[in-house]
Amino acid sequence: MTRRAHIIVVGNEKGGTGKSTVSMHLIVSLLEQGLSVGSIDIDARQATLTRYIRNREARKDLAELGLKLPEHVALPPTHDRGADEARLVETFERLAARHDVVVIDTPGSDHYLSLLGHSFADTLVTPLNDSLIDLDVLAQVEPGTMKIRRPSHYAEMVWETKKARAMRGEKAVVDWIVLRNRLSNLDARNKRDMEKLLAELAKRVGFRVIPGLGERVIYRSMFLEGLTLLDLRHNILGFEFNLSHVAARQELRTLVEAIGLVRPSGP
Ligand SMILES: Nc1ncnc2c1ncn2[C@@H]1O[C@H](COP(=O)(O)OP(=O)(O)OP(=O)(O)O)[C@@H](O)[C@H]1O
Ligand SMILES: [Mg+2]
Repeated sequence: MTRRAHIIVVGNEKGGTGKSTVSMHLIVSLLEQGLSVGSIDIDARQATLTRYIRNREARKDLAELGLKLPEHVALPPTHDRGADEARLVETFERLAARHDVVVIDTPGSDHYLSLLGHSFADTLVTPLNDSLIDLDVLAQVEPGTMKIRRPSHYAEMVWETKKARAMRGEKAVVDWIVLRNRLSNLDARNKRDMEKLLAELAKRVGFRVIPGLGERVIYRSMFLEGLTLLDLRHNILGFEFNLSHVAARQELRTLVEAIGLVRPSGP
């Protein structure tokens, strides 16, 4: 029997919410857990994830440090929709048959490849900056009363992809996880508003909100080196391990455990 990977799509129609950053950290977290991982960059015009992985591949000390890599495929769109979609399906099937997990990074727009990519998700992870502007892609909020008027375009798009799955005869249930990103302690009021609105919207639209990732330099500082904070145990490049990194690792562990592919660690 062919192996069928668990598919994680990282998506949000809003740009710059941390999709590629989360994808890379998720990939390395899963590799570190001993899982084999395939990855697809649908946002291959911008190619952040692809370049992050290529930077890792290019390290001369890769083998020496035992740094693990996913089997990665970048899919730059050619504007031939039929051909692009066929290529994505072929890539997806190939990787899904070979790996435990496939992670798909998507662009911050409603491109047709993104739509198709979303329809493969067993788990959809949506990083969301902790701002009412970013929440707008999920729901329209009534000014003044702060009540949710209606789900927005992206929420409807996720709904459509569930229908697409059902039409292909697959289970329509997608575990949708919203991950607040770049959390800071500076704006307590905004944080409270976001918490309340997300809790309400979660019930209405059908996602889970999990504790998010803090605003931390470490998430953006190692791109050129192709490293993530999970690699710091190797004590490379003079990156000193500190308390912020311990907290960051815990945040990532929470995400990986929420996806349910690894057993929760002890208390
Ligand atoms: N938790 C974080 N702490 C600090 N910086 C972060 C964090 N998450 C993301 N960033 C930074 O935010 C910016 C956007 O991140 P990223 O490129 O991952 O977003 P994206 O959603 O993939 O963007 P796009 O929609 O353009 O593909 C980058 O500069 C990244 O380094
Ligand atoms: Mg990106």
